[in-house]
Amino acid sequence: MRGVVVIYLLLAICQCNVGVTSQECSESQPCPFVGENSFNFSLSGPMSDLVSSDGFLEVDLTVAVNPVVIEWLTLFRRTYNGGFPGPVWRFKPGDTVMVNLINTLEYPDSSNSFNELRFPNTTNLHTHGLHISSEEPQDDVFIHVNPEEAFTYEYQIDSQHPAGTYWYHPHLHGSTLFHVHGGMAGMIIVEDNPNPSITPQHLLDVSCPDNCHHEVRLLFQPTLLYADNYFPSFPFIENRMNVNDSFQ
Ligand SMILES: *[C@@H]1O[C@H](CO)[C@@H](O)[C@H](O)[C@H]1NC(C)=O
Ligand SMILES: *[C@@H]1O[C@H](CO)[C@@H](O)[C@H](O)[C@H]1NC(C)=O
Ligand SMILES: *[C@@H]1O[C@H](CO)[C@@H](O)[C@H](O)[C@H]1NC(C)=O
Repeated sequence: MRGVVVIYLLLAICQCNVGVTSQECSESQPCPFVGENSFNFSLSGPMSDLVSSDGFLEVDLTVAVNPVVIEWLTLFRRTYNGGFPGPVWRFKPGDTVMVNLINTLEYPDSSNSFNELRFPNTTNLHTHGLHISSEEPQDDVFIHVNPEEAFTYEYQIDSQHPAGTYWYHPHLHGSTLFHVHGGMAGMIIVEDNPNPSITPQHLLDVSCPDNCHHEVRLLFQPTLLYADNYFPSFPFIENRMNVNDSFQ
């Protein structure tokens, strides 16, 4: 394979012990990321939570090209709300979840043939693991949210929906790969059903809302940092990166 994928990161909220370096950092000779003794290896700080109340959660996801700064390296990527990854959605079985997907990317959009990378500035949304309808305005992956347009998804979460951790990301054929690798993805938490006839008391005793502070969230996500011109035919992928020479 020609060209080199410079760095392959596993991204997670975790306390990672990483090495310290004094070598010069560059695209072809990447440094390890330094941190302090440990740091939250989330590029936008700890993942923020959007939590439902009174049976309802409204989420705004604004798609734009933003700088993602990792110590000596600044990447420019399409993100949700400038974060990497997007915010955590947190709700209960029986809730209604509205997601306003606001696409601020602009024309021109690039339409190549069907199985090529294309539609860099068109997006949509898909969830993994939620038992919801695949019809508009729920989880319909054929929706196109064009540049400078918005769409509101409305998910009806079943009152017996299993508790768990799930995932959301764009699912438009042609741009999914580089939208997700850019950081457009995030965690969904469906909380335990508070009804003791569904969740046994001994499980309720160790879960939220009384024990949320014991929760450790891990979101693993590969992100490929492409060398300049790695995809010469697809300049729209957005592979700009700046190296900060003065970073110690
Ligand atoms: C990492 O994030 C957690 C949760 O917000 C916080 O309690 C902790 O202090 C952070 N650790 C570092 C090293 O920043
Ligand atoms: C996509 O949107 C960005 C940000 O608005 C813009 O700079 C770019 O020209 C648009 N088109 C393509 C093909 O990248
Ligand atoms: C480069 O790194 C230095 C030292 O860590 C920091 O003060 C400065 O703000 C950084 N510049 C940019 C453009 O990120």
